[in-house]
Amino acid sequence: MGVNPSGERQAETDVFANDAFATALVSTGKVAEVASEEMAGVVRGPGQLHVAMDPLDGSSNISTNNPLGSIFGFYSAELPCSGQRMVAAAYVTYGPLLTITFSTGGEVCTFVAVEESGTTGFVHYESGIRIPEKPEVYGMGGLRKDWVEPVQKFVSSLEERGMKLRYGGTFVGDYNQVLRYGGIFGYPSLISKPKGKLRVLFEAAPMAYVTVRAGGAASDGAQELLLVAPSKLAETTPVYLGTKSLVRELDGLFSAARAESGTAPREGS
Ligand code: F6P
Ligand code: MN
Repeated sequence: MGVNPSGERQAETDVFANDAFATALVSTGKVAEVASEEMAGVVRGPGQLHVAMDPLDGSSNISTNNPLGSIFGFYSAELPCSGQRMVAAAYVTYGPLLTITFSTGGEVCTFVAVEESGTTGFVHYESGIRIPEKPEVYGMGGLRKDWVEPVQKFVSSLEERGMKLRYGGTFVGDYNQVLRYGGIFGYPSLISKPKGKLRVLFEAAPMAYVTVRAGGAASDGAQELLLVAPSKLAETTPVYLGTKSLVRELDGLFSAARAESGTAPREGS
């Protein structure tokens, strides 16, 4: 078993998914490069699109047979670049239905996998998916004692309001509940790891792209998540996404904390 560029142990399934998706993407002829959470470099192709992917999201859930996902960001510029250069994003949920949730810049839609005469294909299932404004669920990664103060305060307040905790350790699965029920998902800035755990290109920006197109908001606590410009492929960022009013409320707590500590607000916040 190897280790990926973020220092995480790679399961055989991670490597299998990475190779299968990279090969399939390049074989379309539409792709200029594929970057992945599981590769230090990029795979090049003859096309125009720059793809960043997390081929198997939540791989710590493989051995427990809990939900897994895949995430894809499609960019119009050489990677690494900010989410402002995204032209489409998609994520796959491997649940009772295999679903692709995606946006190409307009509304958020889904395709589901169907089997007919022994062949698997995809049919268009939903359009115009919106994040409910009345929030019901939240998920926040990391240890509570390691959360920075605005996150601690915010989560206590969500709990007081009766919002339910939903956290399974797969970004795609946990986020998908937020998209469907309304609420917020975060993998926050930690005291021990201020830039969090999730990768800008492979995870954060694609999910932010879908969130914004579903009428929600996505932030790193100081600026819009889609403005975060990584300087290397596997750079991480704090992530807060979901129902707009909640994300803005948390942004407010971060900005108050910065004002109190005398730190100037960052550009875009
Ligand atoms: O890809 C990283 C990841 O597996 C995400 O899918 C998930 O949100 C997070 O890590 C879970 O991390 P933790 O085990 O710290 O809760
Ligand atoms: Mn992941």
